[in-house]
Amino acid sequence: MMTRTWIKDIVHNAGEMVSLSGWVFVRRDHGKIIFIDLRDKTGVAQLVFLGKDKELFLRASMLRSEWVISIVGEVNTRPDGMVNHDIETGNYEVLVKECVILNEAQTPPFEIETDGLSVGEEVRMAYRYLDLRRARLHQNIEARSDVMKRVRDFLSEELFTEVETPVLGKSTPEGARDYLVPSRIYPGNFYALPQSPQQYKQLLMVGGMERYYQFARCFRDEDTRGDRQPEFTQLDMEMSFVEQEDVMALNEKLLIHLVQTAYPDKKIQEIPFPRLSYKDAMERYRTDRPDLRRDKQDPNLLAFCWVVDFPFFETTDTGGWTFTHNPFSAPKPEYMDNLLAKRNIGTIITSQYDIVLNGWEIGGGSIRNHTPAALRSVFEIMGFSEKQIQENFGHMLAAFSYGAPPHGGIAWGMDRLMMILQNEPNIREVIAFPKTGDAKDLMMHAPSGVTSEQLKELSLEIKTQKK
Ligand code: AMO
Repeated sequence: MMTRTWIKDIVHNAGEMVSLSGWVFVRRDHGKIIFIDLRDKTGVAQLVFLGKDKELFLRASMLRSEWVISIVGEVNTRPDGMVNHDIETGNYEVLVKECVILNEAQTPPFEIETDGLSVGEEVRMAYRYLDLRRARLHQNIEARSDVMKRVRDFLSEELFTEVETPVLGKSTPEGARDYLVPSRIYPGNFYALPQSPQQYKQLLMVGGMERYYQFARCFRDEDTRGDRQPEFTQLDMEMSFVEQEDVMALNEKLLIHLVQTAYPDKKIQEIPFPRLSYKDAMERYRTDRPDLRRDKQDPNLLAFCWVVDFPFFETTDTGGWTFTHNPFSAPKPEYMDNLLAKRNIGTIITSQYDIVLNGWEIGGGSIRNHTPAALRSVFEIMGFSEKQIQENFGHMLAAFSYGAPPHGGIAWGMDRLMMILQNEPNIREVIAFPKTGDAKDLMMHAPSGVTSEQLKELSLEIKTQKK
């Protein structure tokens, strides 16, 4: 067997024999000559079958779209008039000498050559493995992988450690509904899937990691929208011995680096990123995620901005207080006395910073309370009893009493960032296997019922009828 050559590399093999493998993209039968566009993950190449070898030609005439083949052939430069400027290998073609059919394919339920935007979402999702073959989706997934690699390289240079945190955890108060997982061993008890690794990353700071990051899968049982999925990916990070400016500066540097290296055609409207207070944003734009683009028609214009100085607390329907962003946030230093004294609560400003891009909130974070007293004060302001504080956050208060360093961090919505960078209309286009608008996986058929044995093992009973 000859070693396989990637299709993109045939441009270096003119006059040589190569072995290629991939999918039949398009077949053009001209009677005595058959052209096949062969596709692999790196590109498309034109294969040529001539009628001289009867058996080989017969096999070529059987090939249909999406059949999987392996060929051996000679790379030739194409005659001048035949060059295809639309594909990278367009100056070359491969004269096939041997062809093996590795698998046949049914006719796909939709065309794969198009961008797919006019194909119904239901059928695209049901056949997502075919949808992923189209160039647009393929490029989105490749670009996502490329951006993630650049993030890893950058953060590793900055002495960050990539740490995985549990998916089976404890319910946390982040504002959305939790996905719960019943425990078999402890009937009636549940794990919660993380809405974010917030508490774990702070505990890593107590654990002396100092600089942590992770591409973290987060789960929130809330209504799905174009920019929201029940499970999504955060670039989550946390740093010790930092102030608000340090976290913002590092993240701004990383975002600029990503755009300049991975998206050189894109232009960042303003560097350093403009900053707006929550109050100014609301007064001027009536939103805390303003779209500051000066030209909204330009798909390559990126208008980043930071929104800062949010109120820490807001009143609840029942007249109490609740947090606006994150109960673990610290107030801005000048408001710490008020927090500790639980005084002028409505005026306390949090250290929260949101990063906004073209009108989308692509990330948010804050400096945290690292003393037990400050954290306790937040929960007391929210009216939690001592028992509730201990049950829900006793572990955080205990951890902070063992020398917790000052720390802060941020989490980016990776899917949202990639959606904007790839000029896509929603985050489903940059996620390999997203859920539909109504939170279903139409390919695997999830969610689905389970057997009565499984329910019994979990000590669960279903009271209402399945939908
Ligand atoms: P937050 O809840 O703001 O912060 O989430 C951070 C970012 O994640 C993205 N995001 C989502 N993306 C897709 N689908 C969703 N359902 C979804 N929900 C949120 C947004 C958002 O800005 N632990 C804190 C971060 C921190 O303080 O460090 C947190 O999770 O782009």
